[in-house]
Amino acid sequence: MDAKTALLTLDGTTFELPVVMGAEGEKAIDISSLRQKTGYITLDPGYANTGSCQSAITFVDGEKGILRYRGYPIEELAEQSSFIETAMLLIFGELPTQAERAVFRDMLSAQELLHEDLLHHFEGFPPYGQPMSILSAVINSFASYHPDLLDIQTDEEFRLAVAKIISKVRTIAAFSYRKSVGRPFMYPDPNRSYCSNFLHMMFSVPYKEFEPTRAQIKALSLFLVMHADHEQNCSCSTVRMVGSSQANLFASVAAGICALWGRLHGGANAAVIEMLENINAGRMTVKDYIEKVKRREMRLMGFGHRIYKSFDPRAKILKKAAHKLLHDQDMTGDPLIEIAQELEAAAMSDDFFVERRLYPNVDFYSGIILRTLGIPVSMFPVMFAIGRMPGWIAHWYEESKNNSKIHRPRQIYTGPAPRRYVSIEDR
Ligand code: CMC
Repeated sequence: MDAKTALLTLDGTTFELPVVMGAEGEKAIDISSLRQKTGYITLDPGYANTGSCQSAITFVDGEKGILRYRGYPIEELAEQSSFIETAMLLIFGELPTQAERAVFRDMLSAQELLHEDLLHHFEGFPPYGQPMSILSAVINSFASYHPDLLDIQTDEEFRLAVAKIISKVRTIAAFSYRKSVGRPFMYPDPNRSYCSNFLHMMFSVPYKEFEPTRAQIKALSLFLVMHADHEQNCSCSTVRMVGSSQANLFASVAAGICALWGRLHGGANAAVIEMLENINAGRMTVKDYIEKVKRREMRLMGFGHRIYKSFDPRAKILKKAAHKLLHDQDMTGDPLIEIAQELEAAAMSDDFFVERRLYPNVDFYSGIILRTLGIPVSMFPVMFAIGRMPGWIAHWYEESKNNSKIHRPRQIYTGPAPRRYVSIEDR
């Protein structure tokens, strides 16, 4: 038997299926001809065993707790890279040279303002409108403001679209927050770095500029680097699926924002803080919470992962960073971090979590960092979306470059057998 072939016996006939090997030794059986050859499809609800594409962007080994962007370990990027450099790595494939970085920085500065007409969109949302709905709607509206970038053909067009999204997403995010608290919009300041500029648009007031500390800027940049990509998760797969119909980049990443919104995905960071605040307010003890989780009345938010089964390297990095930021901000007595650690310790010594291999994920400590930066909980998923934007763009581009087929899964039908239409009087 060819080592690169899998044999499948169905109804007494044996079929050969090619085996595909990844760069890190991952193994897949190529079933793309299965239905044509056998009449069978595969059934995999939740796609836990389905590879939807071959991708050169991010590698995750969930058993060993490994995460690499374009081959670079997340630990090294956390230590040495910035968000924009990491974004360039993910999107364009290589770490930029100083000159490339400078050109891209200028492009981001040139794109940081929003079209003034676009500002009226913010007025159309009710006060306290959900920042995620505002973000997805405004990013989707880019298709109307930049019709020349709907059918990207050249590298220049792609770079321009990338700069528009990466730069403007933080302006929109900050403006949606300002709108929700009834404060005037603060325009971006081209002399600031990406993260400093975002914090300025969030927290400056017309009579007083907000000057973030180095520690705050570093913590925000690290948060964004940690979220920049995570291969074929729910929102990334959504972006690739929408992109596979040849929908434009703006529509595709807007769809990614919507997919990220849920509590099991990008909404988990806010749910973690709600959980910790409930415990802190005395509505529940750590022990009560753990017992409720074990009775399946609720989930331990920020715990568990479809892929990571020993630890999530991002959680390790963010836990350390949360401690450092609290120390730098002189906030070491924050009760939420103590409760988080108590919960983690309780879960890690409980068979329910150990047997199911549930560990803290990226969202468990990230909310503490955001909260320490003064970001309100309603904005937490938006922060995740800003961070994940480079990953979504990189995957959309890869999908379009690979000339992939439109994504169109099949199903096993379980509905009624054929029946005749009954007119309404006879029903
Ligand atoms: N709390 C309690 N039990 C859990 C949890 C949790 N957080 N996560 C999984 N389980 C249990 C689950 O009840 C099931 O037990 P059993 O086999 O006895 O029925 C078992 O573990 C497997 O769970 P699953 O739901 O089949 O696992 P999944 O791979 O489909 O779900 C997950 C992954 C991340 C959705 C899930 O772990 C979860 O709901 N976690 C809490 C929400 C969260 O923190 N989400 C952020 C994920 S990381 C960032 C991101 O991707 O957005």
